[in-house]
Amino acid sequence: MKGGVAGSGRERITLRVALGPRSYPIELGRGTLAGAGAAIAHHTGARQAVIVSVPPVARRYAAELARSLRAAGMRVHRIEVPDGDRSKSLGQVARLYDAFLECGIDRASAVVALGGGMVGDLAGFAAASFLRGLPFVQVPTSVLAMVDSSIGGKVGVNLPQGKNLVGAFHQPRLVWIDVAVLRSLPVRQRAAGFAEVIKAGALWDARFFALLEREAESLVRLESPELLGVLARACAIKAEIVRRDERETGVRMLLNFGHTLAHAVEALTGYRRVLHGEAVAMGMVFAARRSEQLGLGAPGTALRLEALLRRVGLPTELPRLPRSAYLEALRVDKKRRDARIHYVVLRRIGRSETVPLTPAEILPREPRAARRRAPRPGRRRT
Ligand SMILES: NC(=O)c1ccc[n+]([C@@H]2O[C@H](COP(=O)([O-])OP(=O)(O)OC[C@H]3O[C@@H](n4cnc5c(N)ncnc54)[C@H](O)[C@@H]3O)[C@@H](O)[C@H]2O)c1
Ligand SMILES: [Zn+2]
Repeated sequence: MKGGVAGSGRERITLRVALGPRSYPIELGRGTLAGAGAAIAHHTGARQAVIVSVPPVARRYAAELARSLRAAGMRVHRIEVPDGDRSKSLGQVARLYDAFLECGIDRASAVVALGGGMVGDLAGFAAASFLRGLPFVQVPTSVLAMVDSSIGGKVGVNLPQGKNLVGAFHQPRLVWIDVAVLRSLPVRQRAAGFAEVIKAGALWDARFFALLEREAESLVRLESPELLGVLARACAIKAEIVRRDERETGVRMLLNFGHTLAHAVEALTGYRRVLHGEAVAMGMVFAARRSEQLGLGAPGTALRLEALLRRVGLPTELPRLPRSAYLEALRVDKKRRDARIHYVVLRRIGRSETVPLTPAEILPREPRAARRRAPRPGRRRT
């Protein structure tokens, strides 16, 4: 599956996430929302469906999805949660359980997430836990959800103490992608989603990365004839990595490329000013530069990555905050101060690997003089 850029001009592409009995298709198309119902009925065998969404998405697309489910012979219920990542909470999970009970949701019912990654993670977690697991379908509507969060079965919610602290693995039965819905996605959200597309190319597939370099601006404008193929290729890379390592004990960790610093940036900026994809863009450029400084990355790799991210409209420099703040953020989920992080380094475009590094090794004291400085008294040299 590695290599092989998806073809251009095609209007329907089917991929498969091969996970034995938990395998499922990813169906990509343009203007295909009205066809979702029949596919959902087929892949879940459910007699009723509950659509979970957020207002900006529901008001545009939920009626059409509900119609297609009804046309496929299903009873349909609709639930909306407030927009924004704050809804990825146990409180909203409890609200969904109440609504499920009220609608008479049983094991012959499917939960359908219609929205971005927030809705997918929340509805997926409710589906994973209600009645010990209901069939679940993803109808992602953001670029990020299409190529990343809807594939791989990670579902969950945030706690006040931190993001994604509660969750489960619950693979969907089907991922139904209609790229036409991206028209209404704000351009800043589109660009942020493309950070994950670029990530897939950078860590896995140099030919795909080169295609992104040819199409960058027109992809974000949704004008590229390669759009469907590009999204499909990004999905295929995620699907292939998940197939090899469903539970993230090995190769799936590569998907964290750029995410070590991204999570730090998000935490330090209060999860508001910087979108996830923007933080990932900064984190990837940082990681690529650091890879070169450590002699692990081919010279010029970081510059190439940075140039592409900028063309898509993404920021590439970390917010100017004290090193100590970043160090604290990296150490936050580590028991031991100098515990090593599986840091993803970029060998060259299309090839990544994890290297165990301490937070202090990831963040050198200063760009160049870092290793020549004497350690401060009372501090261990790392
Ligand atoms: N499960 C995973 O493997 C995984 C991976 C990556 C990210 N995530 C999670 O995904 C979430 C981020 O996902 P996201 O970036 O899609 O954010 P999101 O779901 O909050 O969506 C971003 C914004 O775009 C709007 N929107 C979405 N689709 C739209 C459309 N077609 N038209 C108009 N508006 C639309 C939403 O209403 C929202 O305001 C985070 O909670 C993150 O933790 C999960
Ligand atoms: Zn991400």
